[in-house]
Amino acid sequence: MCGIVGAIADRDVVPVLIEGLKRLEYRGYDSSGIAVLEQGAQPDIRRVRRTGRVSEMASAADAEGFNSVLGIGHTRWATHGGVTEANAHPHISAGVALVHNGIIENHEEQREKLRALGYVFESQTDTEVIAHLMHHHLKGGDSLLSALQRTVKELTGAYALAVMSRAEPDHFVCARMGCPLLVGLGDGENFVASDVSAIISSTRRVIFLEEGDTADVRRDGVQVYDAHDQPIDRGVHLSDVSLASLELGPYRHFMQKEVHEQPRALGDTIEAAIDAGGFPAELFGRNAEAVLSGITGVQILACGTSYYAGMTARYWIESIAGLPCNVEIASEYRYRAAYADPKHLVVTLSQSGETLDTMEALKYAKSLGHLHTLSICNVPESAIPRASELVCYTRAGAEIGVASTKAFTTQLAALFQLTVVLGKLHGRVDATREADYLEQLRFLPGSVQHALNMEPQIAAWAERFARKSSALFLGRGLHYPIALEGALKLKEITYIHAEAYPAGELKHGPLALVDEDMPVVVIAPNDSLLEKVKSNMQEVRARGGELFVFADQDSNFVESEGVHVIRTPRHAGVLSPIVHTIPVQLLAYHTALARGTDVDKPRNLAKSVTVE
Ligand code: G6P
Repeated sequence: MCGIVGAIADRDVVPVLIEGLKRLEYRGYDSSGIAVLEQGAQPDIRRVRRTGRVSEMASAADAEGFNSVLGIGHTRWATHGGVTEANAHPHISAGVALVHNGIIENHEEQREKLRALGYVFESQTDTEVIAHLMHHHLKGGDSLLSALQRTVKELTGAYALAVMSRAEPDHFVCARMGCPLLVGLGDGENFVASDVSAIISSTRRVIFLEEGDTADVRRDGVQVYDAHDQPIDRGVHLSDVSLASLELGPYRHFMQKEVHEQPRALGDTIEAAIDAGGFPAELFGRNAEAVLSGITGVQILACGTSYYAGMTARYWIESIAGLPCNVEIASEYRYRAAYADPKHLVVTLSQSGETLDTMEALKYAKSLGHLHTLSICNVPESAIPRASELVCYTRAGAEIGVASTKAFTTQLAALFQLTVVLGKLHGRVDATREADYLEQLRFLPGSVQHALNMEPQIAAWAERFARKSSALFLGRGLHYPIALEGALKLKEITYIHAEAYPAGELKHGPLALVDEDMPVVVIAPNDSLLEKVKSNMQEVRARGGELFVFADQDSNFVESEGVHVIRTPRHAGVLSPIVHTIPVQLLAYHTALARGTDVDKPRNLAKSVTVE
């Protein structure tokens, strides 16, 4: 959360900063700002900040004629201090401007110290202490770089920082600890950004900074320093993020685009298994066979939508691979004295690879004695996979809509592959079953496309949902987590209160909520629990509740008064949860359209949550 971009060039960098911030807006979108160096005999810093979207700040920068060869920018998701212009970044302390992503835990202590030195605070942010600390060290004679290196050693917490000073107009500096930051290398121009999407129009050549690194960024070169302030070569990577994946194309929203990209994203994520004609352990890394054959159980850790992917995987891992599997919300796990069996594999699931709670849960699991870790992640080179022993990258491509869609279904595809690998290595999946699972996987993108084709029918339902204030989602077994995901999607982007229950639990409480105003969405695939689900539906109907049922093509459901049915494709067997995710995504999307909410940037949320 919070996005950072910085640039130094021989051309005007203001358009680079604005474009970068627009691409980083998924990281936070309550306010934004840029600071640039005003050229002339006596260079000074000019700053523009606005609450609201980047486009509003960009118009102000344009109106005020901002133009410079050096600048930094920020898009904010408020943590310390409300959404006000005074709290927006960049923060300035007499000629030093900086932008910050992360949280400084010892800001109160630093604030007291700085107040005693005469500094006056204009904002409620933790960031402002860094600006004043920088100024304090510069005043003491430090260069911009050494002031930064000294300052970061006085901070506890997480940060990605970019800092410029009017006294040193030929460069800017940056630092990273716990929040992502990379340096982009251009031709006679260089950049810094929270992720490569921000600078992709200028360069694909990037250096990923490591924890504790600082860097000196000049027009003609970049020098990185490690946590001990020693020069270090971090290597240059060529990013393969495509520009098309960052642009809307013919779609109205990124969420719509990303929902429709799922057949392709799934096809790409399963490609290696299809090409291999099976499920080799190497899908999870070179050393995977040795690690995965030695484990005796699985501990999954994740947040949000990724957690629901983990819940689904638990059904697969226990029934197909025959291994015990525990799934826990990362923010809970990290603060309890959890039982840790060193022979249980810790699997973290994270689209972004930078969710702080998941990262901390991973570190905590290691500290408890877990020996083996696997990360399933969608962002190459992000922090969580880098801290894991085994890695599997989903190939969803950039996901920009805050509500996760294609990242979820590709996580499920990766988890299914992990299940079959574990089943093989632990003697539960023979060659015939492996071939059968591969065949099911091969059909998956087609089934998902078929589910997408139901969009017009789902859009018609959405018109009715848009007028409701609450909804219930029901599912059983493998589809209970999909009911949870459906309720989460609806909450996130329509602000309709939604809850999900395992259908069998209805009578133990939530049935009290059911009346003619409460729509009840039922995920009712043609599996062994269908008859049970039908009984649960009767419980709703008998209380006047209106049912909206997602059934399979081959299940004998009849529509009747108060029971609306949409048929998804033929039952997809064990992969059915992936197919049944599509209609609940589309229902949330179209309901949001009908309510006129901001689909891609729902209120109060951010895509990657790098704070507690
Ligand atoms: C945020 C996002 C959710 C996401 C969750 C976990 O809350 O808004 O969409 O599911 O973080 O993110 P991760 O990147 O770890 O999967």
